[in-house]
Amino acid sequence: MPAFVGLQPDREKRRRRNRTMILTLDQLCRRGLLRGKRVFIRSDLNVPQDDSGAITEDTRIRASLPAIRMALDAGAAVMVTSHLGRPTEGETRPGESLAPVAQRLSELLGIMVPLVRDWVGGVTVAPGQVVLLENCRLNRGERTDSEELSRRLAGLCDVYVNDAFGTAHRAEATTHGMARFVPLACAGPLLASEVEALGRALEQPKRPLVAIVAGSKVSTKLTILNNLARKVDRLIVGGGIANTFLMAEGFAIGKSLVEPDLAPECRNVLKTLADKGATLPLPIDVVTATEISAHARPVLRRADDVRPDEMILDVGPATCQVLTHVINEAGTIIWNGPLGVFEFEAFAQGTHDLALAVASATARGAFSIAGGGDTLAAIAKYRIADRISCISTGGGAFLEFLEGKTLPAVAILQERALSAI
Ligand code: 3PG
Repeated sequence: MPAFVGLQPDREKRRRRNRTMILTLDQLCRRGLLRGKRVFIRSDLNVPQDDSGAITEDTRIRASLPAIRMALDAGAAVMVTSHLGRPTEGETRPGESLAPVAQRLSELLGIMVPLVRDWVGGVTVAPGQVVLLENCRLNRGERTDSEELSRRLAGLCDVYVNDAFGTAHRAEATTHGMARFVPLACAGPLLASEVEALGRALEQPKRPLVAIVAGSKVSTKLTILNNLARKVDRLIVGGGIANTFLMAEGFAIGKSLVEPDLAPECRNVLKTLADKGATLPLPIDVVTATEISAHARPVLRRADDVRPDEMILDVGPATCQVLTHVINEAGTIIWNGPLGVFEFEAFAQGTHDLALAVASATARGAFSIAGGGDTLAAIAKYRIADRISCISTGGGAFLEFLEGKTLPAVAILQERALSAI
């Protein structure tokens, strides 16, 4: 508030409206501000590799291409960097180099992308060229967001672009610190679109807003459950999380994965929902087994009929019908987590039906956003990627956004945009 004291009313109004806005790379390109400039792009190219160093999944590399192409097309000299894993600063060990990523980037862009090692002291790159700067977490001070390192990195460029949504929850020198000291700081298209999609889903959703929060433990997702309970119209829970809700409501759940200590927290979530007229449809039937394996014998039970030696490993068909109906009616769907142990076919039906329900609701006009490793695996397994409105490239960042936390990398871009008004 005090920041606005003394401003003209119109300017103050504009500042308030723009408080959450960020400058985008697209806007800078359209104003012709990149020609001949040194542009530093922080991407998230932290991709999985096998033991031989081969990249096993390259979604994040592909998702980073539009920003790079945009900057090249605008006539900039382009530097790109990313972290890979969590190396010890100052030590390069096998498997922690971005060399395989440089090769894949070269293939995808159709131009040579050299890898530059030891780049903090200076980078040579001409307009129309792109270089990849070696794993930024090898630099001393990166993870601690050191001001000294941040100032040196800022000196490398005229324009800083953060396009790393997957790392937006980290305050590090390349995701946060250097944005404070560069002449111009903006968001790349990937970061901007993910922030926009998540913001839209959580803050201005088309109703009903349905969230699916599933996974093994309530404890790891309690903040998300509490935050979403205040916003959603329907909350669907699955996996071990659903078991703890069932226990909280007095059901016997046999040997199922459960966190008894968190039953009171589940009751609080149910109360928050009930107080505002929102609902949480608990499973009415479940698929159980006495072991978790590909050979386990699945048994269909009513949710109030689980035997002491059994584990709940999926929801049953009656529950699937209810959940499909809830999702069919949704205007907005936020999806994080599979319903059952979908790696095994005997316990995959719930996640399968849920995935198809989300896809068909999206096809009919609902806005859907999905994120998290297991959710992406389910989306890939049931081939519905093209029928989800937004698939987040963030793991931890996606979850922290759902928790209602401020993402430091986004906050600094908002601050910079505000100070530019
Ligand atoms: C991720 O894979 O979730 C991101 O790249 C962030 O990685 P980090 O958890 O090592 O910061």
